[in-house]
Amino acid sequence: MLHILKGQGADVETYLTRDYGHYGPGLEGKTHLVQDVPDVNTLLDAKDYDLIIPQSIDWAQKDWGSGLVDRKAPILCPSGEALKLERDRDFARALCGRYRIPFPRSYVARNRIEAEAILAKDPRPYVLKNPLCSPTSPIHTIVCETVTDTQAWLRRVDYAEGAFMQEYMGRAEAGHIAFVSGGEIYSLITNQEYKRAFNGDMGIVAGAPLGGLVESDPGDKYGLARELIHPLLPWFREVDFHGPIQVTGIKRDGKWSVLEYNVRLGVTCGPVILRMLQNPLDDLIKVVKNKKLKIDFNPGLLFGCSLTLAGYGYPFVALPTPPLPVDLISPFDCDVWWNEVALDSHEQLVMTGHRIADIVAIAETLEDAIKRAYSNIARIRCLSSYYRTDVGKSLWPPGEC
Ligand SMILES: Nc1ncnc2c1ncn2[C@@H]1O[C@H](COP(=O)(O)OP(=O)(O)O)[C@@H](O)[C@H]1O
Ligand SMILES: [Mg+2]
Repeated sequence: MLHILKGQGADVETYLTRDYGHYGPGLEGKTHLVQDVPDVNTLLDAKDYDLIIPQSIDWAQKDWGSGLVDRKAPILCPSGEALKLERDRDFARALCGRYRIPFPRSYVARNRIEAEAILAKDPRPYVLKNPLCSPTSPIHTIVCETVTDTQAWLRRVDYAEGAFMQEYMGRAEAGHIAFVSGGEIYSLITNQEYKRAFNGDMGIVAGAPLGGLVESDPGDKYGLARELIHPLLPWFREVDFHGPIQVTGIKRDGKWSVLEYNVRLGVTCGPVILRMLQNPLDDLIKVVKNKKLKIDFNPGLLFGCSLTLAGYGYPFVALPTPPLPVDLISPFDCDVWWNEVALDSHEQLVMTGHRIADIVAIAETLEDAIKRAYSNIARIRCLSSYYRTDVGKSLWPPGEC
């Protein structure tokens, strides 16, 4: 996103709150480390910023989060009550109830005794999630597909923050992203993420997806916005919601239900959306100012395909791995976003973690986007790295398995 907005004329800087993934932002502009600048508000005291794009929902929980809200910083994310749509899963469930949006049967359990009692009383397969979303939650989504899978996992999960139990709804999933601004909803894209680690949609749901497809979708072709976002319009207006909204939906028996809402432009779809818009910088600045929008899309950039190059051992990240060299075999002709890599003391690019890069191609047709992404990912070599070779062969069109 830094790279694309810089291309639009923005001066870009990054506030780095984690100790990895610094290489990419450093290529684009100035970076500030949390060790040197413990409170991001000191940067805002010194300079006027037009736009702040948080990458984690945790910004609001930080000591400096309320300072940003109080000074009305131009942050591309709702705050207060509006932020609860993502942060608090049971809040989202209740809100869907209020506006008659289908949401799977769900419960909050405070401990194992309550969880097992829920399962005994209403035996279904449940997906187990953190009740309050945060990258540091003790539970990362565990998808159980049978009652006995659920029983087994309920014995093992960490109940320190409780467990959100949501009925398992199958695999016909898709996402839709829109902006909410000036009291209106503006559809942007429909997308699919390939969350399972291995080809054939096998293996665990990895922490971050292995691939994704994105379709420019201002007209809401698949009805996801109509069914799962638009009914919330009165609430958006009530709480002054402005910012991005993503719904992850799932289709069962011909009907879409909500799995969750997110309220930020994430690392996977964010850069694709910005490429698809003609004036992304102007649009984002209008959203933080809560203005009405007139969004122009790039006519030739209708479909995006992103592939993740995963490093040695992924998704089982506990494997000890040395900083293996990352070699470029030939130049790229699409976007390549570096993740966990760095330059070593010999100026050799090396992997420093398990997600090496995201390769993102955008084209007029889905076939061309997929072809270009695969042609580019093959230009990177790193020992025992891998990627899924079947992106586009399942889970598309949206609502299919
Ligand atoms: N109720 C459900 N039924 C089937 N699959 C689910 C369900 N809830 C989550 N999943 C799967 O797990 C993934 C992650 O769950 P999600 O609710 O999006 O939480 P998070 O992204 O915070 O981990 C979803 O994208 C989907 O693939
Ligand atoms: Mg999700």
